[in-house]
Amino acid sequence: MIGRMNHIGIATPDVEKAAKVWLELYGATKAHDAFDMPEQGVRVKFIDLPNSQIELIEPLGDASPLLGFLARSPAGGQHHVCFEVEDIFAARDDMRTKGARVLGTGEPRMGAHGTPVIFVHPKDSGGVLVELMQIPAEAIS
Ligand code: CO
Repeated sequence: MIGRMNHIGIATPDVEKAAKVWLELYGATKAHDAFDMPEQGVRVKFIDLPNSQIELIEPLGDASPLLGFLARSPAGGQHHVCFEVEDIFAARDDMRTKGARVLGTGEPRMGAHGTPVIFVHPKDSGGVLVELMQIPAEAIS
């Protein structure tokens, strides 16, 4: 079963410009430094909210999976929602048992928080791309 919502992923052509919206228009108080994830083809910048985070993601490189998204929505937009799970392999197997499509090879890969993640196809979730993220063991009470 999924746990807490960890973050909302928002695709944008420019994470620094996008961050200003959340800081200046909506009054978010903390933006983290952006960092690159070359293997995932994204540049990432997190905005802290009282109960969650916004993950701003910008294409990085010619093979970025975000390029198609931004071709359809040049100004950017909501890309995925991330929920926490205790065991990423158990979550992956549960998704497959229930007939949902796990993207890629299905092998969890390292997410932006440094814990393993998988993505479930939006067609299995009413059009929502869902990221499942294993929370660090020390966060499990
Ligand atoms: Co994410």
